[in-house]
Amino acid sequence: MIDIQDRIRCKELLSKVVTAEEAAKMINPNDKIGISGFTPSGYPKAVPLALKDRIEKEHFQIDLWTGASVGPEADQALVECGGMNRRFPYQTNGVLRKAINSGKVHYIDMHLSHVAQQARYGFFGDLDVCIIEVCAITEDGHLVPTTAIGNSPVYVDQAKRVIVEVNVSQPVELEGMHDIYQPLNPPNRQPIPIVSAGDRIGTPYIECDPNKIIAIVPSDITDKNRPFAPIGDDAKAMSHNLIDFLQNEVKHGRLPQNLLPLQSGVGNVANAVISGLVDSPYEGLSVYSEVIQDGMFDLIDAGKLDVVSGTSLSPSPDGLKRFYDNIKEYREKIVLRPQEISNNPEVIRRLGVIAMNTALEMDIYGNVNSTHVTGTKMMNGIGGSGDFARNGYLSIFFTNSIAKEGKISCITPFVSHVDHSEHDVHVYISELGVADVRGLSPKERARVIIDNIVHPDYQDELRDYLKRAEAKCGGSQTPHLMDEAFDFYTRFLETGSMKKA
Ligand code: COA
Repeated sequence: MIDIQDRIRCKELLSKVVTAEEAAKMINPNDKIGISGFTPSGYPKAVPLALKDRIEKEHFQIDLWTGASVGPEADQALVECGGMNRRFPYQTNGVLRKAINSGKVHYIDMHLSHVAQQARYGFFGDLDVCIIEVCAITEDGHLVPTTAIGNSPVYVDQAKRVIVEVNVSQPVELEGMHDIYQPLNPPNRQPIPIVSAGDRIGTPYIECDPNKIIAIVPSDITDKNRPFAPIGDDAKAMSHNLIDFLQNEVKHGRLPQNLLPLQSGVGNVANAVISGLVDSPYEGLSVYSEVIQDGMFDLIDAGKLDVVSGTSLSPSPDGLKRFYDNIKEYREKIVLRPQEISNNPEVIRRLGVIAMNTALEMDIYGNVNSTHVTGTKMMNGIGGSGDFARNGYLSIFFTNSIAKEGKISCITPFVSHVDHSEHDVHVYISELGVADVRGLSPKERARVIIDNIVHPDYQDELRDYLKRAEAKCGGSQTPHLMDEAFDFYTRFLETGSMKKA
């Protein structure tokens, strides 16, 4: 039996310690369940696995609300047993992705900053149960989160019943890294008093009425973080292109010498680009972002990064070990916040965040698709990219010029799904160059995009498309050939390649 006595400092709660199986019995069919966790970090593991076993015997479904993606113990196990009916707001699990794209799970893809406030407004109905992973319970019964905060504060607050997983694989030294602040609903909402990335404005724990806690479950199951792809030449080239662009901004006085707070998106490209800043001339950097990946530890170790604010530690397995091994040093520089604060438009705009996100694809006028592969199949979700892209001081999107060994051009005439419109992005960067479209009209933008970031294999066709569209539409604002706009996708679906035969 895992010993969690020391971790439960509120001794009257010791009587609520049960097994995961006993806790899973306290969940009812059709319950709406809100869980901790953001990227496969800080999510409950033992109770979702026990719930899966129960669902396999009793055949019922639940709705699952999270912070963002969570690990296989929840996102995979609850799908495999047929138990997941509805899921939001973000995921990355292959089994869940397949279930979403075959109509087995209702998936609602949302801006991550919206979830907490909409839950508080009652937009999704009443929350029945919250399951939260903690590393400790304080003397007053308050909850100390682990490697992610996500939407835990609002779920704890709104749920009728709270199940707590005390995970001994998570070090107690995490206590003190969190900063919990919950805004009031309008018309009583006040300005969020963050004026620099490292400001602390709340409590280091989540307040919880001990009477709502129905079960406390011991666990030692570790976060299932995923490794990043090795940093390849294209990612290095994107990083160099970014640094050239930023240096020019500093030279022209549009950015200070130590830049403004950086936000960096999820995935391989974002991690590689941040790592690349180790070789940049910048020092005294700050980060106001959502996820904290390995590249940020590289910057801290290089002495270039003073403070990092996020909602989740989302490193690779090696990165997590590196964090645990040096937790005392890293924790001085890291603040973990609820995702409605880490991704808050008010704060992002006040701080002047440099928003850097990754697109699946984009079009010649600058509309970005982050979520849907060839327009119909959900990849992961919009995550926080919209929160940052629309509100950043500068909004930058990265994309490779091509995908799938060149069979796909990541820049097409008309993107197959729009997550970020042409109005939300200032600069596009591929491995080939930088398209800075600030102050340009759509037709000017299209030329800059085609000339600077499109792969040579597709440049001629896109130039030809633009020329013929302009001829056909006269001087119209955004010329298109509506009968040809999606030809790239039709060709890909028919032949397996966007290239003309
Ligand atoms: N069409 C089809 N597939 C494409 C594609 C395109 N235009 N562009 C890339 N892909 C494929 C890649 O081939 C790769 O496939 P694989 O997994 O089979 O190898 C996959 O998409 C991921 O591409 P990769 O280049 O490794 O990108 P990534 O790991 O950096 O992820 C996103 C890119 C867009 C999926 C990821 O950034 C994401 O989910 N973004 C949305 C959420 C977000 O931005 N959050 C940040 C807020 S802080």
